[in-house]
Amino acid sequence: MDKQTVRDFDPSGKRVFVRVDFNVPLEDGKVTDDTRVRAALPTIKYLLDKGAIVILASHLGRPKGKVVESMRLRPVAERLSQLLGRNVPVTGDAIGAGTVDALARLKPGQAILLENLRFHPEEEANDPQFAKTLASYADVYVNDAFGTAHRAHASTVGMAELLPAYAGLLMEREINALSRLIENPERPFATVLGGAKVSDKVKVLENLISKCDTFCVGGGMANTFLVAKGFTVGKSLLEPDRVEDAKRILAEAEARGVAFVLPTDVVVAKEVTRGAERKVVPANKVPNSWSIVDIGPNTVAAFEEALRPARTILWNGPLGVFEIPTFGDGTRAMARFLAARADEGVTTVVGGGDSVAALDQLGLADKMTHVSTGGGASLEFLEGITLPGVAVLKDRAVS
Ligand code: 3PG
Repeated sequence: MDKQTVRDFDPSGKRVFVRVDFNVPLEDGKVTDDTRVRAALPTIKYLLDKGAIVILASHLGRPKGKVVESMRLRPVAERLSQLLGRNVPVTGDAIGAGTVDALARLKPGQAILLENLRFHPEEEANDPQFAKTLASYADVYVNDAFGTAHRAHASTVGMAELLPAYAGLLMEREINALSRLIENPERPFATVLGGAKVSDKVKVLENLISKCDTFCVGGGMANTFLVAKGFTVGKSLLEPDRVEDAKRILAEAEARGVAFVLPTDVVVAKEVTRGAERKVVPANKVPNSWSIVDIGPNTVAAFEEALRPARTILWNGPLGVFEIPTFGDGTRAMARFLAARADEGVTTVVGGGDSVAALDQLGLADKMTHVSTGGGASLEFLEGITLPGVAVLKDRAVS
């Protein structure tokens, strides 16, 4: 990575503002998935151990510039305190006299979490005064919020322009893992894409098509490709205005000699609901009043065969409606296949909230080479976009 990190300055006795991505799911006042909190621990521990005063800040949800009680960060601070084994208090507000007082009382080796930054509309507006206030809290800025690095907000860009700005250890790990895919993957390099919409992934496909040897495409987005090939997909999810994009991508893959593997059989259901009648049909025989909800067993086998030679595999997006367990066989099979390939030394990188959730359900996340904490951010990175929250960090001197 060509950016300087927390290892490039002496944090001892310094006030360090650390932008983290603690945008985590909550239920009944408890964090239900603490992956992002755990992922930020190495940076937080490193800075505390070196005697820094650590001021943590994050958004949670999309409160649209107002205080929303259910989006307060207290449950996250509680989880963080448990994980760190020391109390991390949370302020009542990200700004104001009370916060300034609380920050002034902190001693080296102590941390505090600011309340949800997005309770202020100035955060998302990247308001210069708000950025200046946040910057006034610290000597140094660290961005460890890879998941939010695609947003140009006051806490990700505005204040980073006002302080010496470094990458955190999670940010470094994410950028190294994802840039390796784009710049220098061990070949053959294969990508498995799923998820509901082609529109979310067109730019990723366009960027990766010149870098990948094989694509396997499932999930709702595959339906638009099936239509591009002249099939009908019944009542399935479809983006008719993306059929031309799908045709263009298929033609480009063919011209480049890139394997583009689509479902040959699919699971269809009468309704996309729990307990609905389901059956496996060939992909060119989807009944008019049924919906595709998963890839079929022949497709699972075909995907695995196409992926078997790969030395690097990227996976983004579930291959069916996996949140309904009877429509999740294809997604679970892919998770198990990647875990087995990782055991054999293949580089496996998984991004996007839903495919990560599938790995977590099966307890396989730890098997992967890298599981990204970024949803939108990892997609934009793979599209080849320079993320604003990364661009603003200090460059490493070229030797
Ligand atoms: C995410 O969950 O992808 C990040 O925290 C960014 O959240 P946002 O899409 O609300 O900006």
